Order: sequence, then C-alpha cells, then structure tokens
Amino acid sequence: MLADLVVRNALIADGSGGPLAGGDVAVAEGRIVSLGTGRVAAGPGTTELDARGELVCSPGFIDTHTHDDAALIRYPGLEFKVAQGCTSLVIGNCGFSAFPAVGGDDIAAVADAGWTDLDGYRRAVTARGFTCNAMALIGHNTIRMSVIGAGDPRPASPRELAAMRAQARRAMEQGACGLSTGLIYRPGKWASTEEIAEVARGAAEGGGLYASHIRNEGDRLLEAVGEAARIGREAGCPVHISHHKAAGRENWGRVRDSLAVIDEANSAGSDITLDFYPYIASSGPMGEYVTADTVTQEWAERNQFANCPPFPAYQGRRVSAVAAAEGLTVSELVGRVLTAPGGPRTITIGFGMSEQDLITNISHPRMMIGSDGIPDLDGMPHPRLYGTFPRVFAEYVRGRAVISLQEAVRRMTSLPAARFGLAGRGLLAPGAHADLVVFDPAKIRDLASYTEPKQEPEGVHWVVVNGQVVFDHGHHTGARPGRLLRFATG
Ligand code: ZN
Ligand code: CU
Repeated sequence: MLADLVVRNALIADGSGGPLAGGDVAVAEGRIVSLGTGRVAAGPGTTELDARGELVCSPGFIDTHTHDDAALIRYPGLEFKVAQGCTSLVIGNCGFSAFPAVGGDDIAAVADAGWTDLDGYRRAVTARGFTCNAMALIGHNTIRMSVIGAGDPRPASPRELAAMRAQARRAMEQGACGLSTGLIYRPGKWASTEEIAEVARGAAEGGGLYASHIRNEGDRLLEAVGEAARIGREAGCPVHISHHKAAGRENWGRVRDSLAVIDEANSAGSDITLDFYPYIASSGPMGEYVTADTVTQEWAERNQFANCPPFPAYQGRRVSAVAAAEGLTVSELVGRVLTAPGGPRTITIGFGMSEQDLITNISHPRMMIGSDGIPDLDGMPHPRLYGTFPRVFAEYVRGRAVISLQEAVRRMTSLPAARFGLAGRGLLAPGAHADLVVFDPAKIRDLASYTEPKQEPEGVHWVVVNGQVVFDHGHHTGARPGRLLRFATG
C-alpha cells in the first residue's frame, strides 16, 4: 500500500515511555501503517515530512483538562491547542459540560445551543467541523442545574438523585468517558458526598471515571482528596484529580502529602490518577472567589484581570493596581466589576502556588498534563492556554531535568489515552489512529506569558490529526479532521 504521509528519519517516541528509536512513521487512510527502519513506499501523492534525524515524532498530545466545549464551535481551528502539539482534548471538566443543559455563559453564547444531550452536541459540532479530537465528560454542575436549578442550595431529593444518576448513565451510553465535578463552584458545592457518589454510580455503570476539581485545594487539601477517593470507592469507579495543587503560601509543600495519600489509597485498591498544569498561577471566574464583601487587599495584590467584559482596559493588570488607579478601594472595584453588565464573566489569574510543588507534581508517575486553559481570546487569558505542553519540555525535561523526554511524552499520550478511553490513540503502532506531533526536542518551548499570553510556542514543526496535517511550521492548514470520540471504542 502506498502511504498518504510519511515522517522520514524521525526519533520515534512511541508513547510507551521506552527509549527513542530512529525511523519512519507511515500513514495511510488515517492510520499508522508502519513504523521503524523499513523503507516505506511513497508515491507522487505522498506527503513527506523530513525529521532529519533530529526531530521527535510522537503520538499527538492529549490535553486531559480543557474547557473547550464551546470552543469546538467558537474557535473550531483550536489554534491554541494545535500549535502545542495537542491532537485530542478532554472536555467537560470542573463540573461544566455542554449538556444536558446550558452549562455556562460560554455555551449559551454559541448561538443555537439547542441540544439536550451528548448525541445532540455531537451532531452540532460535527456538522460544523473542528480540528482536534475530543472526549467528553458530563459535568455534575450542569446536571444539577438541569434537575434542581442553578441557584438552589438544598439537598437533592431521592427522585432528583435518580434523575441525576440517569443523566450520567445516559451520557455514558452516548459515549462520554465519565462524570466531572467542580466542588468550589455553584451549584456543585452544595452537593453532599453522598449525592456525588450516587451520580457517579451512573458513570460507573458505563465503565466511566470520576474526574474532580476537588472541594478544597488549600488548607483542607487532604480532606478533599479523601472525599474524592471515597466517592470512587462508593461508586465503584476510577478517580482522576484535576489540576492538583496546594494553593496559598501556608500550604506549599502539601502536594507531596497529598500524593502520599493517593499512593497509599492506590496500594489499598483505589485507582487514582491526576493532572496538573506547569504554572504557579491559577485562573477562574472572579465571582466564584471573591465578592465586594469578602475581597481583601492581599487577594487584590495576588490577582490580575484576565478577561473583564465590562472593562477591557483592566485586562492584564493587577486588581490592586486597577483599584489604586481608579481611586477606589478593592472592595468598591470588585463590586463595580461584578455588578456591571457582563461582569460575572470576569476571569482572574491568581498567583498562589510554589515552583517546588510543580516539580513534585511532574515527578509522580501517574501525573498527566491538563492545561485548564480558558478559551476566551477576547481578553488576556492565562498563558497555560497557549503554552502548557511545550512548557513541560522546556522546564522539566530540559531546564530542570526532572523527567526524561520519553516519560514526558508518555504522560501526554498513552497514560491519558488509557485513562480517558481514547481507543487506538496515545501509542504509535501499526493500526493506531494517525495523531502525530513532530517537534524539536532541543528547541520546543512556550512563549506565552502573563503579559503576552496569546503567543504560540516554538519548536513544533508538524501536527497531524487522523492522518491530516493541521499545523505546518506556524501555519494552520485549516483542516478540520477532529472527531468527538466515544469512550473506549473510538
Ligand atoms: Zn477546575
Ligand atoms: Cu478546570
């Protein structure tokens, strides 16, 4: 068979974590047909990508933590992901998904969000086309909004519990990989452990996992990890802890304690994995962290505006600096922003983690990479949206030499593929789907910063999704070969 595409003379990192091997990777009809040193037949129609014996060819990276549910429609080229080498995205994180109800302003904003389930969402995004593959979680916040309401803090009734569990089950039947929670956000934070375990049983029935933005990432981190582990045990499903961190100076170092708790649970029969992003700042909706009544000067000094629809001029600046410039107290400023039209969509970036905790995170063999990027390109998003994957190579493979290149690739490919049920992806082997990235191991690095966040990285040469070149040296080809995948089947 003639190949459609061949990567010539590459250093092949197959995703397993094993040593690099030299050779060619050949693709036909969207699948890998051969791998290694045998000369592959190429014809006039074959695209040949020359890796010159110095570029790495690996499976495309899998971003395990995204909020790209609306981005599949709003930014179907997914340039900020593709340029990093990402070929698949796990969507529906932190308890918010595009179904069964309108899960947030971002979904409502993408026009005719007329669907009510994963099948409907799949039809809508597939009809338009998009560039990366995606795997969906169903969000507990979104389920709770649809069954109990967005603003109702009361416990679920037995009938509502059954309805929520049925939603999770139905999503599994339609190809979701599991249930996500966001237990600092409304309305998820009003749910008891028992409620979540009951909804997670719906995911467990379909073989899915429980992925959680846990209830506390600061002084009660260990307790929150314990709750996630308990939900996994009671529901009977694997657990994935999202953006693992210890926020707040007084909690620095607790990432190590938390990982020890997880190791212990795993050796006692639990199955817990994690992801993190390689930055000391976090980001999310300002109104979920502070109000005019609760904001402190200290918080305002640690946080900057990422996206601020009513006052775009604030974007990229510290909250405290804006308050000073406007002649307001930080409380007055926060009140002004949150009560303005569009104000609740304000996103902030908070500097609260330690570099050592990032190193501890990347050192753990069950740690994957999840950008947690918030795809709102109108503002000044957290640089993780554009930089996460190249940054792991620049900082932790080359810079600090914490893990090997092939181990970093494994954490970005085969480990998440197995975890989130991306069948036939994450490992280079004959018959696998041809999701590839070709990059320069000596040069790959992030350029996005807190002041210039929308910068594509350096060192990524080509990205291939389902056999089609989607990125070629900084040029996005416009191809939209992405698929909304089905859990464990493809
Ligand atoms: Zn989260
Ligand atoms: Cu998130």
